[in-house]
Amino acid sequence: MNHGKRVGIVGAGNVGATVAYSLAMLGSCHEIILRDNKIDVAMGKALDMSQAASAVRSHTVVKVAEEMSDLKNCDVVVITAGSPRLPGMSRDDLLMINAKITKEVIEGVAKYSPDAIIIMVSNPLDAMTYVALKESGFERSRVIGMAGILDSSRMASFIQEKLGYGGGQIRASVMGGHGDDMVPLARYSTVAGVPLTDVLSEDEIEEIVNRTRHGGAEIVGHLKTGSAYYAPAKSTSIMVEAILKDTKQIHPCAVLLEGEYGYSDVVCGVPVMLGANGAEKIIEVTLDEKEKKMFAGSCASVQSLIDTLHNKNFFEGK
Ligand code: LAC
Repeated sequence: MNHGKRVGIVGAGNVGATVAYSLAMLGSCHEIILRDNKIDVAMGKALDMSQAASAVRSHTVVKVAEEMSDLKNCDVVVITAGSPRLPGMSRDDLLMINAKITKEVIEGVAKYSPDAIIIMVSNPLDAMTYVALKESGFERSRVIGMAGILDSSRMASFIQEKLGYGGGQIRASVMGGHGDDMVPLARYSTVAGVPLTDVLSEDEIEEIVNRTRHGGAEIVGHLKTGSAYYAPAKSTSIMVEAILKDTKQIHPCAVLLEGEYGYSDVVCGVPVMLGANGAEKIIEVTLDEKEKKMFAGSCASVQSLIDTLHNKNFFEGK
């Protein structure tokens, strides 16, 4: 039976719940199923969101999966489960804690939603996407990490702040891993089609690049008890929508590289075409020497996390 589009969300904390809310308001799927160990909290949020959906005349219903087995036959599953980033903590500190959580969750997803496209959101993002790939055994087009849209939005917002104009007309481009050595590409960023380099000085661009790299930490510094969730959630829901609606739009996403950009067996953020089959195409943009070097550094950071997992025999039996 055709059940309509169903999206599963694992982790109903700030990010997961905000993804659900964003999707429910858009009415882009029939059902959203929240899965969280805190079942009562998930239940309360699900009811609240279903009622908000009714208020805007959206047909989306938000439900709760009491067991992983209730998260079945989803078209897309978003994984936000994991320990969040706390002040002073790097994304990498979360590596082992969140790898174990991801492993457990992905086992359930692969079993009960074997045809789903998985969107990873938990940090450290690129390494968790790699874990999800290994644990699910899914082809690489069906395991995609969210981060590039978020990092590019942050850069666009900083450009707007610096310029004082151009809001809504800024296209910023960030590649690489979701870490402090991500690769903001000023050369591929524009304001209403005008190259960034024509409207800002080198120093101003450098300032924006640095602020983008530390955009997540800047928010953690303010919130103190957790990390950002509005922009991360919205970025995730943009990916879910592109997949459900088969838009074939290009977004920067974290995927397993198999020779693209000269790298293999590592996950990194690159421009990807999203459609009903997930990451349907990887676009290879031309990088100059400086950009290539930055991208290499970023891939090396992700690789060192993957190496740590291998050294601790995390993938034993896989
Ligand atoms: C951020 C953290 C959560 O970028 O990775 O906001």
